[in-house]
Amino acid sequence: MGDRSFDIGGSVFLTAEELREMLPKFFEIYNKRPIKINFGGMGFNHSFATYAVASKLKPNTVIESGVLRGQSTWILEQACPEAEIFCIDPRPRADQYISDRATYIRDDFSLVDWTNCDPRNTLCFFDDHQNSYTRLMDMKWWGFVHAIFEDNFPCGEGDCYSLRHVLSGFGHPRMQMSTNARGRLWKRMRTKLKEDFLWSFYPRQQVLRKPNAVDRIGFKRNVSIYQELPPVVRYQSNNWGGKWEGQYDSVAPLYAEIGANEHAISLERIDEEDPDRAFKYSYICYVRLI
Ligand SMILES: C[S@@+](CC[C@H](N)C(=O)[O-])C[C@H]1O[C@@H](n2cnc3c(N)ncnc32)[C@H](O)[C@@H]1O
Repeated sequence: MGDRSFDIGGSVFLTAEELREMLPKFFEIYNKRPIKINFGGMGFNHSFATYAVASKLKPNTVIESGVLRGQSTWILEQACPEAEIFCIDPRPRADQYISDRATYIRDDFSLVDWTNCDPRNTLCFFDDHQNSYTRLMDMKWWGFVHAIFEDNFPCGEGDCYSLRHVLSGFGHPRMQMSTNARGRLWKRMRTKLKEDFLWSFYPRQQVLRKPNAVDRIGFKRNVSIYQELPPVVRYQSNNWGGKWEGQYDSVAPLYAEIGANEHAISLERIDEEDPDRAFKYSYICYVRLI
């Protein structure tokens, strides 16, 4: 990213050693997942990172925002078998995995009354493609402290204001930053109209954010831990087809290659089930508010 020197005390929540220890059990769990190809949702790396954070944290409540087919619901359930689970998605899918112990909400995280949650023992999991910075503000309003942000787009990519965008000062000046995801002319024209509308009342909307340094300062004042969880393995190219360098640089993977390590058989099988997608990685992170 533009500035990888961002340091809030060097604190980490999970070490690479702890993550490696959790892997064997996770392979067994992942083999039983209800959705073999989770198109549009998490693959192996982010599923493992979510499982690892939730297992270590052992929250008594989990709030999942962004359900899609329910794969992440299932992963969170495996990690926190005792926790109460809330699943938020305004557009639930017909083919969704439904948990019999979750409460489903068709609204937005910011519009729910969380009075009855124990906020310091709750894990908020965001995979909803909304503004991550204002999600942190919403969390603070209710006293929540633990969050996972599944999509943490690097500068110049993605459809929402990510924490990497915040930390780099790059902002999120287009609704869709990734050039190859902007669609055909008609879609681009409609998006431009929406953007013009949003710019017309800029300070009162949450989608577009000009490049700025202030959000990083606000972040630093309120966050005690920001850790990008490493991928278990990475593909040669990043999610946008380029090299893992510059703003696309990531923390080192737990293993350098899919093959040639103690988990090669498990990793190769996972890749065969969903080739070129299973090990995608988008800088998933754990955040702890002060
Ligand atoms: C990337 S998918 C989630 C994938 C899922 N977590 C998984 O890995 O299996 C994003 C989901 O966010 C949902 N979404 C959109 N706006 C939302 C909002 N304001 N609150 C919660 N979910 C939202 C979409 O309907 C979509 O199902």
